[in-house]
Amino acid sequence: MPDYPSLARRIASLTEGETDEVALMATVCCEIHHSDDRFDWTGFYRVTAPQVLKIGPYQGGHGCLVIPFSRGVCGAAARSGLIQLVPDVDAFPGHIACASSTRSELVLPVFGTGRRLIGVLDIDSDRPDAFTQDDAHNLEAILASVFGHL
Ligand code: SME
Repeated sequence: MPDYPSLARRIASLTEGETDEVALMATVCCEIHHSDDRFDWTGFYRVTAPQVLKIGPYQGGHGCLVIPFSRGVCGAAARSGLIQLVPDVDAFPGHIACASSTRSELVLPVFGTGRRLIGVLDIDSDRPDAFTQDDAHNLEAILASVFGHL
């Protein structure tokens, strides 16, 4: 597990004073991705039209460019506004396999002020059951501190 307190501090100091969503996403996904070997793909999908997610800054191999809210783990997070912790992607109906190596996923909704949905953070692992509730809680807090006031 990453040293979440130091990851949070690093992200806070790197992003201080920045309000551009893409600049923030690029910095946050870079820092998260390199904080733990379990994270094989780390990136954002942004809400760019009603019910549509489009690829944002990411680290790892190429991702799908467009994901409707109706599809996949990212779509479920965007639709419900709830964190999706998926220990086995093969057991998730409608999972979108951008990389066949992905075994488990953690997808968090990203909110601005007034719970405006900005997008989702998608972390994929080639390891089965890679993610814990601790990861979810720590990452949720980091996202709230970076994007919650936008
Ligand atoms: N994990 C996603 C697809 C995105 S790519 O794997 C980067 C999903 O099923 O929503």
